[in-house]
Amino acid sequence: MSTSERKFATRCIHAGYRASPASPAVVAPLVTSTTFLLDDASYAHMLAGRADEALIYTRLGNPTLDVVQERLASLEGTEHALVFASGMAAIHAALLACLPRGGGIVAHRELYGSTWDLMVNVLAPYGIRTTLVDLDDPKARKEALAQHKPQVVYCESVSNPTLHVADLPAIASDAHAVGARMLVDATFASPALQRPAEFGVDLVIHSATKYLGGHSDLTAGVVAGREEDLRGVYRWLQLAGGCLDPHSAALLERGLKTLPLRMRAHCANASALARHLAAHPKVAQVLHPSLAAHRSHATAKRVLPDFGGMLSFVVKGGDEAALRCVRALELALEASSLGGVETLVSLPFNTSHARFTPAQRAEAGMPPGFVRVSVGVEDLADLVADFDQALAR
Ligand SMILES: Cc1ncc(COP(=O)(O)O)c(C=O)c1O
Repeated sequence: MSTSERKFATRCIHAGYRASPASPAVVAPLVTSTTFLLDDASYAHMLAGRADEALIYTRLGNPTLDVVQERLASLEGTEHALVFASGMAAIHAALLACLPRGGGIVAHRELYGSTWDLMVNVLAPYGIRTTLVDLDDPKARKEALAQHKPQVVYCESVSNPTLHVADLPAIASDAHAVGARMLVDATFASPALQRPAEFGVDLVIHSATKYLGGHSDLTAGVVAGREEDLRGVYRWLQLAGGCLDPHSAALLERGLKTLPLRMRAHCANASALARHLAAHPKVAQVLHPSLAAHRSHATAKRVLPDFGGMLSFVVKGGDEAALRCVRALELALEASSLGGVETLVSLPFNTSHARFTPAQRAEAGMPPGFVRVSVGVEDLADLVADFDQALAR
């Protein structure tokens, strides 16, 4: 049986590399060389514009990167995957590869702050128009697509930090009906919970800094999709130069091996902590797709096998009360980022969405007192006790 026919957890460990007499190391070798011996075949590949298919120079391709790219493609169920120096480098390359001069994006209105900033403030001067809508409202979606005729429809499979779960099959189908490419940032779900290409998504993007790496010790990004669609993305990777360092690629390759184990633990802890916080008298609201009151609960049950490791909650008393609670935590750490084994908490008002006005934050579903939690894999009883003592202060 070939590796590609095996189950997900097996592919997390074995896809992309297998020890053999020619390469007897059980763990995929880390190749740090920036450059490689040239031969006639390398020159021919360069001339044909297919430098990625030969071993020439690490910005164009590297054996350690090849292993992790093949594994990621296998996990996403796509023909190919490319790794980048960060999630933002991946998002930037994927967008620019799909947008002509003066092109248009229709994006879901709830986005990671830097993605919003890139689209609305950085790409706009280059003539790229971004229209933000509620992509899960079928009427608003169809109207925006008909009116703006975008080349790209973009959303996060689970949004940061409101944990809105996108109805990907419906959105991808409407995007294709107007000839647009569907791009999804699937960072929060990870391929352990969802493989957006199965729903017709063209390019699947990750900040691999999060769950894929899993240990808060590397920065990386991924774009996965069809070979043909990735050719343009590779041009941006190669020429804008956002390539992943092989050391980080090796860490990412190791992290992927435990992805299913970690995601199971993240999801179980997050669902239990969400239930606990929802009953707490100092908490006004908890957002986690496992809760029946969450607006995406029904969609989540349809498109995800579990509800994810991120939750958000609103502390009664506004941002000051929330900050007091976060600063009183003794186990969970006040830090941005997410998806590592340790529990991290952050407040969008002074981190990811600091560039939003209070009104824009409220409009995007983050009222005062909003706290985002990346629930780690610590013992649940310790986590519950930590949030209880912090809320009691
Ligand atoms: C959903 C999402 N997408 C993309 C990014 C950007 O990733 P990176 O920090 O690896 O560039 C982040 C970072 O927090 C994120 O949360």
